[in-house]
Amino acid sequence: TESTRELLLSRIRDVADYPKPGVMFKDITPLLADPVAFTALTDSLAELCLRHGATKIVGLEARGFILAAPVAIRAGLGFVPVRKAGKLPGATLSQAYELEYGTAEIEIHAEDLSADDRIMVIDDVLATGGTAGASLELIRRAGAQVAGVAVLMELGFLAGRARLEENLRGAPLEALITV
Ligand code: PRP
Ligand code: MG
Repeated sequence: TESTRELLLSRIRDVADYPKPGVMFKDITPLLADPVAFTALTDSLAELCLRHGATKIVGLEARGFILAAPVAIRAGLGFVPVRKAGKLPGATLSQAYELEYGTAEIEIHAEDLSADDRIMVIDDVLATGGTAGASLELIRRAGAQVAGVAVLMELGFLAGRARLEENLRGAPLEALITV
């Protein structure tokens, strides 16, 4: 609802020139520290997961973990982490993606997903869409289906939605707030 959006927005702090000059950082720690706002966020995302028929939740390291784990519990679904390269001990699939400068790599335990699974990816922010796009590639390569991507906040001016289109292949991108 509009009042939920206003509550969430009011608990996100703009930090100028962080982590470098010219960047306006969206700090979600005030939201996490407010149990009413954090619960509203968790409930909203869990409702989206169930509405889109998700059977499992994938959270993206690191800030995505904070949101996705309580959403998984709330929705009664399992949680699978997508981690930055080198952190998972088992057999992993890896996916590289472009950053502003250079590349990054994320990994998943493929055995945690099955062909029957419909996966909702949860993260805090969609910026360029690189991280979310790479996670969708991992999910498909692991043989599972994509239910969608759900984020707290979409940075509209970075056009991540357009970049993500080819990875979504028709699956929904849900953002509770667009700035
Ligand atoms: C941030 C944010 C998203 C991602 C969005 O994560 O939490 O995961 O960037 O950017 P993109 O859409 O351009 O890929 P980051 O990798 O900075 O670190 P953290 O979550 O580990 O703090
Ligand atoms: Mg992140």
